[in-house]
Amino acid sequence: MSSKKYEPYLEFCKKARDNGRKRFLYKAFNDQHKKNTTLSIVDEGQDPKPNDAISLNAEAHNTRMDSGLEQGEQVTSTRSLFYTSDAARDPQFNDAMDLNPEAYLDFVNNDYLNLRRDPRLLEAAFEYGSKYGVGSGSSRLLNFTLPIYGEFEQEIAKDKRKEEALIMGSGYQTNATVLSSLMDKRVLNAEPLVFCDRLNHASIHHACRLAGISQIRYDHCDLRHLEHLLEQNVDAGSGTRMNFIITESLFSMDGDATDLKLLAELGRKYNAFIYIDEAHATGVFGYGLTSLLPQEDIDCFDVIMGTFSKALGSFGGYIATSKVIKEYLVNACTGLIYSTALPPIIIGAARKAWEIVGRDDMRRRAANLIAMAEKLRRALKANGWHLINGNSQIIALTRPPKLDGTRNLMAEVDNTGMKSADCGNRDEANWSMATAKRLREEKHILVAPIRPPTVQTSRIRINLSLNHSNDDIKLLIEALGKAS
Ligand SMILES: Cc1ncc(COP(=O)(O)O)c(C=O)c1O
Repeated sequence: MSSKKYEPYLEFCKKARDNGRKRFLYKAFNDQHKKNTTLSIVDEGQDPKPNDAISLNAEAHNTRMDSGLEQGEQVTSTRSLFYTSDAARDPQFNDAMDLNPEAYLDFVNNDYLNLRRDPRLLEAAFEYGSKYGVGSGSSRLLNFTLPIYGEFEQEIAKDKRKEEALIMGSGYQTNATVLSSLMDKRVLNAEPLVFCDRLNHASIHHACRLAGISQIRYDHCDLRHLEHLLEQNVDAGSGTRMNFIITESLFSMDGDATDLKLLAELGRKYNAFIYIDEAHATGVFGYGLTSLLPQEDIDCFDVIMGTFSKALGSFGGYIATSKVIKEYLVNACTGLIYSTALPPIIIGAARKAWEIVGRDDMRRRAANLIAMAEKLRRALKANGWHLINGNSQIIALTRPPKLDGTRNLMAEVDNTGMKSADCGNRDEANWSMATAKRLREEKHILVAPIRPPTVQTSRIRINLSLNHSNDDIKLLIEALGKAS
């Protein structure tokens, strides 16, 4: 990859190689699914030497667990009770802890495709657990990393049309540690200019704090504002500072999306390194190139981040990127180097989910989910509700504008942990809590009241999933009633 923006990372990798300090992931070189799996320490493009090899008898570890599932037996999907951090903080919600989760209609969780209890994922988790162990045992840089990680990474890279992929710990850990490594001033030889959507996830803010850089925040999804800030800041510099643009594709709290086509154009124009968080788009908006990212501009997106924890029903984060960025991260990203690899059971479930979401039937069902969300939006609007503009499975309602009094400080901190001058309106926050409480207590429906400091404007967030039927949606519409 010859782009100028990759030069500092290439330089770093070259130094690591020259100093004999280059790190690498262990790599399998034979058919790993046979009983005797041979793993070896090999570098990119090198053949393993016979005495480097370590023979691992998979059968010795193969004390297959009873999956608890009879052949063909279905796991019935149950409705579950989840608490957002906002809800958990409120003493009013503590009594709900004793209630039976199955009695609730849940519009809170992120299991958009209803996969987390899918028997196929459970079976894959058991299979990998019984073959490879429940846990991974150590960091991937220490252990004889099982081939399943590399194989899955190849599948992700292929579907995302990138050279490489890297599986990390949680999605939060991925953002916080990958981004902070990429923005490392010591590697870049100068503080980068980092342009962020104002409503980016907390893990992205955390990364900026870890890297010790000040964000240049543009108004939410307002790429004209971004362009203005790029013009102002990039031209003023000497051209030696690296430009980053960091955004979610689909925003978790608003359910709206960035104009990724325009973003790609800006990236090209300003030679910016674009990092896209697709945590909530992954799986719902398709697969690989059919995600929200425009296919023809895929090269403009330097790192595509996603999670297995939402629509894919399990846990963990990944990135798809170029060879050089992966090599750099294997050598520099502490969140990868010094953290235990995701457990094999999780890899089994996530890999199965990845396969399932790519199938045509799931693509059709995901498209139906978005159509169902659109219908719900129309019905809520007809009832007078104010919705944050969006076109996804995430729907955010704000308080009907009536008592709009003076704005009070809700909290001293926002989700970056920094002081915030105006963190929202107390009436709005009370409204969101009261609405969620009413739905929960009177209608046995769970919706998420989201308040500052998580967001600036309090709202009720409704997450639709394939677990919801038309009748469930009718119940929700009736329960919310007319906005007043
Ligand atoms: C946009 C976004 N990115 C990253 C994350 C972190 O992902 P995970 O829950 O897998 O740690 C979240 C979680 O809510 C998110 O909404």
